Amino acid sequence: MTKRLFIKTYGCQMNVYDAARMAELMAPLGYGPAGSPEGADLVILNTCHIREKAAEKVFSELGTIRRLKAARARQGGRMIIAVAGCVAQAEGAEILERAPFVDLVVGPQAYHRLPEMVARAAAAESRQVLDTSFPAEPKFDYLPETSATSPVSAFLTVQEGCDKFCTFCVVPYTRGAEYSRPAEAVIAEARRLAAAGAREITLLGQNVNAYHGAAPPNGSNDGGEWGLGALIAALARIPGLDRLRYTTSHPRDVDDGLVAAHRDVAELMPFVHLPVQSGSDRVLAAMHRRHTADQYRCTVERLRRARPDLALSSDFIVGFPGETEADFRATLDLVRAIGFAQAFSFKYSPRPGTPAANAADQVAEPAKVERLAALQSLINEQQRAFNRSWVGRVLPVLFEKPGRHPGQLVGRSPYLQSVHADVSAERIGEIIPVTIRGAGANSLAGAVLEREVPHSAREDAHQGTSLAVGAPRAEHLI
Ligand code: 5AD
Ligand code: SF4
Repeated sequence: MTKRLFIKTYGCQMNVYDAARMAELMAPLGYGPAGSPEGADLVILNTCHIREKAAEKVFSELGTIRRLKAARARQGGRMIIAVAGCVAQAEGAEILERAPFVDLVVGPQAYHRLPEMVARAAAAESRQVLDTSFPAEPKFDYLPETSATSPVSAFLTVQEGCDKFCTFCVVPYTRGAEYSRPAEAVIAEARRLAAAGAREITLLGQNVNAYHGAAPPNGSNDGGEWGLGALIAALARIPGLDRLRYTTSHPRDVDDGLVAAHRDVAELMPFVHLPVQSGSDRVLAAMHRRHTADQYRCTVERLRRARPDLALSSDFIVGFPGETEADFRATLDLVRAIGFAQAFSFKYSPRPGTPAANAADQVAEPAKVERLAALQSLINEQQRAFNRSWVGRVLPVLFEKPGRHPGQLVGRSPYLQSVHADVSAERIGEIIPVTIRGAGANSLAGAVLEREVPHSAREDAHQGTSLAVGAPRAEHLI
C-alpha cells in the first residue's frame, strides 16, 4: 500500500529543490505525494530561518499538525512528523523539547539520511531522532537520481553554504561552509532534467557565483576547477535546454568568466538577481559585504556592457544598526542610478547568534517602517516602468502552467516577468512569442498570434533561434 507524504516548504528556491529530493528519497520506501497533511503518514515541514519569527511560525504550524496526528491516531494510524530545513538546523534539540510530538529533526546537510531516520522513528514508538550534523561526505553523493518527470522550469543546486559571514545573516550557520558540486555531476543532473521535460534550469546556491566545482575529467581545465561561467557554457550545450538562470549571486564574485557567459551564451537569460543590501559604504562595511556602492555600480556596468538588455533585481535591508537618514538616502540614490526591474526589501531583524544582533545602535521601528515604505515605493515605480516599457513589443515566453482563467497559460519572459496569455494547455513547455498588451506591477498580459506553419519551417526555427519550440508535440510556431 502506498504511504502518503506531505511536504510543506517555506523560504527560498533551495528549499523547493530540497523538498523534491526528499520526495524522491522517500518514494522507494512506498511514500507517494499527498495534497494535504490530513491523514498523511509522513509530514515534513521544510523550514526557513532567514527572517524574523521563523521559529515561532514553525511552532504554530506544528500545533496544527499535532491535532492531525492525534486524529490519525484515533483512527488507528500513525503520522510521523519531521522538521527539516534551516529552523531544524538552528533550533535542533529545542524543537524536540518544545514539541515532543515531533518524531524527527533533520538539517539541510543531513537529509540524505531521511529514509533511515524515518525507519528509526517508525520503529520506536516514543524515541525522537535528531540529525543536524554537517557530514564530511556531501549529501549529493547519496541522493537518488532526479526522477523521470520534471517541471518545465526546474531547479538544480550546484553550490551550497556560504563563507562570507555578512553580519546580519544566519546562512553560514544553518547551511554551513561553501561547497561546490563537481561539474560532471551537475551536467549529468541537468541532462536528466532536460530528458524529463525541463526546458529551463535555474542553478541554485546561497552564493551561486562563488561556484568552483571540480572540472570534468578530459575536458577543459581537467584536474582544476570551473567557475560558474564555464559551467553555464557547458550546460547550454545540452539538447533541449533553452534557458539557464542562476541565483543568488554576490557582487564580489562576478568574475570575468561569468561576464563572458552573459556576452556569449544565448541560453543564459538576461536577468540577474544581485543583492546589494545598502547604498551606503558605511553600512556596507558594517554589514561586512566586502564591496562599496561604487564597486557594485561598476559590476553592473560590466554586466550591462556584456549584455546590454540585462535586467536587474536585488535585495535591500533598511534600518541596519547604525543606519542614518543620510545612509538611507544613499540607498535611494543607488536604486535611482541602477534602475531595477524588480527587488526585494526588508526591515532589518536581529537574528540571534549573528554579530549585528548585538549592536548597540539598533534603529527604532518607526524609522524602519518609514524607510521601507519609501524604498518600496521607488522600487515599485521602477518595476512598473520596466513592465510598461514592454507594452506593444514581443517577448518570447516559456509557458509553464495554467493561468487563473480557463484557456489561459502563464509563463516567464527572459526578464523573469510573469506573462499571461490565452494559449491551449498542450503548449505548456513551448517558448512562444507573445505581443504584450498590458502591464501590471507584477505581471504582463499578452496575445499569441496563431498561424499554421509547415513542419520543415518548424525545424528550421528550432535550430536557428533561441525562440526554439520546446515540446516535441508542438503544433504551431509563430
Ligand atoms: N534581517 C532582514 N533581512 C535579512 N536578510 C537576511 N538576513 C536578514 C535579516 N537579519 C535578507 C537579505 C538577503 C535576503 C535573502 O534576506 O536581504 O539578501
Ligand atoms: Fe548571507 Fe548571502 Fe552574506 Fe552569505 S553572502 S552571509 S548567504 S547574505
